[in-house]
Amino acid sequence: MVKNTQAVILAAGKSTRFNTGKTKLLEKICGQEMILYVTKLLERLHIPTVVVVGYQKEDVQSTIQQFHENTISFVEQVEQKGTGHAILCTQEQWYADNILIINGDVPLVTDNILQELYTQHNATHADISFVTSHIADPNTNSYGRVIKSDQGIEIIEPKDFTGDPFEHCCVNAGIYLITKKFLTTYIQQLNQANKSNEFYLTDLVKIASEHNATVTTVAAPFDYIRGINTFQELWAAEQVKRAELIKHWMEHGVNFSAAQTTHVDLGVSIGAGTFIGCGVHVSQGSVIGKNCMIRGFASIEGSTIGDNTTIESHSIIKDSIIGNHAHIGPFAHVHGKSIIQDHAAIGNFVEIKNSTIGSQTKAKHLAYLGDATIGKQVNIGAGTITCNYSGIQKNHTVIEDNVFIGSNNTLVAPITIKKEAFTAAGSTITQDVPEQALAIARERQINKENYAPKLRKKKDNKYSFIGAVKAHHDTSTSEGS
Ligand code: UD1
Ligand code: CA
Repeated sequence: MVKNTQAVILAAGKSTRFNTGKTKLLEKICGQEMILYVTKLLERLHIPTVVVVGYQKEDVQSTIQQFHENTISFVEQVEQKGTGHAILCTQEQWYADNILIINGDVPLVTDNILQELYTQHNATHADISFVTSHIADPNTNSYGRVIKSDQGIEIIEPKDFTGDPFEHCCVNAGIYLITKKFLTTYIQQLNQANKSNEFYLTDLVKIASEHNATVTTVAAPFDYIRGINTFQELWAAEQVKRAELIKHWMEHGVNFSAAQTTHVDLGVSIGAGTFIGCGVHVSQGSVIGKNCMIRGFASIEGSTIGDNTTIESHSIIKDSIIGNHAHIGPFAHVHGKSIIQDHAAIGNFVEIKNSTIGSQTKAKHLAYLGDATIGKQVNIGAGTITCNYSGIQKNHTVIEDNVFIGSNNTLVAPITIKKEAFTAAGSTITQDVPEQALAIARERQINKENYAPKLRKKKDNKYSFIGAVKAHHDTSTSEGS
């Protein structure tokens, strides 16, 4: 339990090192905006939270509010003058005994690290406690170095650091627990006397040390305190998070054929016995059932897949529901809130949009079924198209149970094909088809008996004519030269 504590998240910065012109705090890691990792963590720990916003504050604020409604409050830092200045902007909001300060760009920090920080802070009666780590790459310029000496302890920012980087591999994680008393007394002592001309929050450590206040540090594994300032660091953090998610699903009986190529996002669920092939993407809260086969390069986004279903290679399933024992793809595209019921088969190059496909229905080759309600045990022939768009509006197609749609049909909506009807191959169906009927809507075929030899003769004449012309040209050319 973390008691007598309120949190401040720093999220006002300009994110200049990303070079996108956009705030990095909304960049995603495994499908979730960076800032939400921190806000959700604090919510889990029941710590009331203030977020300092500034650069693109509307975007940051609305993203947070989507998940937290009114449980988080915001303070604006109008001008970004550094992390120390950001915390100063929240002064009027301080009421708890301890203020937990977290950089918004440290998304992988865990409950345990914060819990440990709180425990150590209380046990040592510290004025300032902060999280440290040992970096793997001593030459990195992304972290302030924690320097302990006879004079005390201080954090030196990369731009101001002149020591040997190999000697000082202990860095500041950007996570602090500071008593309100200490903050209130000393925050005014921060100044901009550094290479960045900013108010550094980290200078409070040196100030504490100089005033013989108690400073406690808590070490954490580097992977959990990675700060994200660049796309490279974003990518590296995502590797860590993704590996964690995949490990979790492996432990729950999911078989990944090439885990390093698979994108599994936060908030998805995969059933035991399911196989996930190379390059598969599973995102946006998708739920995949048990014993499914999801083959290479399939993408499943915001969708639910039942049990024992196969999604073949290169299929895209978006915002849709697939039942049990269904077979989709390869190269199928199911989207727009479609529902594919149990035992249905959707094959190569078939697009299904905003449609319901009944159980045991088959559309196995080259079709477009849009705005359609299709019943059970229907056969959709290869090349069938629902003409759902009149140029002005979308119209609905209804195909009832046990209908057989022949190959290469054009079904001009709005239209209803009643149950157990047949349509002939190559038909353009513009009128409703009654129950049990056969609809044929194509030109009747004419066979001209013994016409082929005449055609062949015409063809031969044509070639002999071309040959004569060519010979004439050849001779005239040689005579002329
Ligand atoms: C900071 C620490 C550094 C630490 C590192 C850990 C300082 C001076 N340095 O450096 O010691 O090792 O984090 O990741 O604190 N922000 C504001 N307002 C501002 C400036 C920044 O709200 O005026 C926010 C940013 O949006 C960001 C956070 O504060 O979320 C940290 O800022 P950033 O510029 O990333 O600090 P670092 O250089 O990484
Ligand atoms: Ca940072």
